[in-house]
Amino acid sequence: MSKNINQIIVAIDGHSSCGKSTVAKEIAAKFNLTYIDTGAMYRAVTYYALQNGIIQEGFIDTDKLAASIDDIHIQLKRDSLSGNVVTYLNGENVESAIRSLEVSNHVSAISALSFVRKRLVQLQQEMGQQGGVVLDGRDIGTVVFPNAELKIFMTASPEIRAKRRFDEMTQKGEQVDFESVLQNVISRDHIDSTRAESPLRKADDAQVLDNSHLTREDQLQWVMDRLIEGGWLNNR
Ligand code: DC
Repeated sequence: MSKNINQIIVAIDGHSSCGKSTVAKEIAAKFNLTYIDTGAMYRAVTYYALQNGIIQEGFIDTDKLAASIDDIHIQLKRDSLSGNVVTYLNGENVESAIRSLEVSNHVSAISALSFVRKRLVQLQQEMGQQGGVVLDGRDIGTVVFPNAELKIFMTASPEIRAKRRFDEMTQKGEQVDFESVLQNVISRDHIDSTRAESPLRKADDAQVLDNSHLTREDQLQWVMDRLIEGGWLNNR
């Protein structure tokens, strides 16, 4: 008898730009689990701060953000047509707004604030407590769900991640040079891993998925193998 996959908590952590959300979405779709994009939640708070004059000229008014934190309501809803998860901030669809460069440039600073993390971790725990969820982020296996049934720590070499980002950006018509994309990847790894609040760290019981040389299919198979090993799927 396999365990009931509808109750599983899958925690996916890892470096930026290594395809965590691709894996998380594929697993969620395959087993009808709920995908929780925790990065989107930090982005939504950042967007709120930008919209409400809390970030000005790169400076964050932390007192004002702390005073407003109870007014920030975030929901992740599944679009019934596309099946995609869409982020709502106080009832407004902000899915595309939170992916802007402006938000990306400020989200590291916002996600380093302990009162923001405390609030979002609590929300993530409420969203996932029933199980049947796949969460991706930086602190899921270490802080949010230390008892998650399957913990995956994803990584790929900085050069490979930079190449993927570079290709993505040039395909969108952005003018970038490879060296600066690579430096950005390296510097974000450093910020994520050395910040005081919940730094990116592999949980002791997480399994490492290095997808530097894996195809999407190989990667999905790797996760399926972990689920079979864990007794969540019949060997098929
Ligand atoms: O995964 P992403 O790029 O959308 O994440 C946006 C930012 O939020 C990134 O700077 C890391 C941070 N983050 C975090 O600190 N903790 C999480 N659980 C998820 C994201």
